[in-house]
Amino acid sequence: MKEVNAIMAKYRITWLPGDGIGRDVMDAARILLDALDLDAEYVPGDVGWEFWRSEGDALPSRTVELLKNTDCCLFGAITSKPKQEAEEELVPELQGKGLVYFSPIVRIRQLLDLHTNMRPCTAYPGNPLNYRDDIDLVVFRENTEGLYSGVEFFPLPDQVREALMQNHPKMARFAEVPADEIAVSCRIFTRNSCRRIVRHAFEYARQFDRPSVTVVEKPNVIRETSGMMVREARDVAKEYPDVELWETNVDAMAMWLVKNPQDYSVLVASNMFGDIISDLCAQLVGGLGFASSANIGDDYALFEPTHGSAPKYAGQYKVNPTAMLLTVKLMLQWLGEADMATRVENSISAVIAEGRVRTYDVGGTSSTLEVAEEIAGTL
Ligand code: NAI
Ligand code: MG
Repeated sequence: MKEVNAIMAKYRITWLPGDGIGRDVMDAARILLDALDLDAEYVPGDVGWEFWRSEGDALPSRTVELLKNTDCCLFGAITSKPKQEAEEELVPELQGKGLVYFSPIVRIRQLLDLHTNMRPCTAYPGNPLNYRDDIDLVVFRENTEGLYSGVEFFPLPDQVREALMQNHPKMARFAEVPADEIAVSCRIFTRNSCRRIVRHAFEYARQFDRPSVTVVEKPNVIRETSGMMVREARDVAKEYPDVELWETNVDAMAMWLVKNPQDYSVLVASNMFGDIISDLCAQLVGGLGFASSANIGDDYALFEPTHGSAPKYAGQYKVNPTAMLLTVKLMLQWLGEADMATRVENSISAVIAEGRVRTYDVGGTSSTLEVAEEIAGTL
């Protein structure tokens, strides 16, 4: 008979290590959570490459059910490969059945409407990889639409081309291009999503006393979509007189982030611009080993380090767990465990400053788990 736990834990957390170093860093997360004694049940779920290969689905429906029945999710990383390569790696029984690989993380974001991707990039004192020591940025990236909506065409169906031709004079110069020599990806923005992401950025700025929110778009060229984002930002900003709204084009932003990153605080952007800008921001504070993220919806959230599965380091317990441990901090904050979140961040900061226990990327020789144990021991 199965043993039934009489006392329910305060939180049920879906535990998705995924592939490669996702597993290594999730082991590190567990060391920290156990040291904190968080009152939680961690429910493991299946996700990633192994399930694509053996079942033809990297996100089996049982995992979607699990997500729906927990408070939030902690996620390691998954391996993704282009369509053709993915198909070739399926077990022989599943080949030639027309199965198409879709990234589980993108699917989870859309399925659970995790509309807000928050990516903090803080230069912790003493990190030798800091570009400057006074950088403290948070990127808010719209997470479900924009150029990553997935509405794409190749070859271009005649009906789609005709509809575009009839409705836009600028399509005329594409009239004669053969269907298999033209590809179209739609950049879809909705007003509601623009307002939502901008509002999250302003709420955060207000809550954490940030002086400004910079909307990063390109409305002078991408008039309709970027234009909508900037318009909504101006409108939402009126409700936050205590926070300044700055507007910067994405190309200029790349330049300013290298020139004067310390001048910026909260950045907000659509899906692709946010993706690109947040990798740049991560590198300013030590790279992927330091970049945490939260995917937040109205009543669910998934927390994951920004990095991928780094297959060449898989299972070696070599990589930096800091990104994952900062991700745990974001989860604790979202759960309302503010004290624990602060303890985690202070202890990460102290271990970085001391500089005795470091992984290879920071010039050290310590393992993933040694760093986690040091941070857990400093709590
Ligand atoms: P990656 O982030 O896995 O690794 C790139 C390089 O960054 C690594 O080779 C390593 O040198 C460094 N790195 C990454 N994490 C680190 C850490 N914690 N500590 C120290 N160094 C670290 O990106 P890559 O190589 O482009 O992709 C590998 C796989 O991961 C691909 O299959 C890709 O599709 C997938 N991926 C998954 C993501 C996710 O799960 N959300 C995000 C990005 C990539
Ligand atoms: Mg990215």
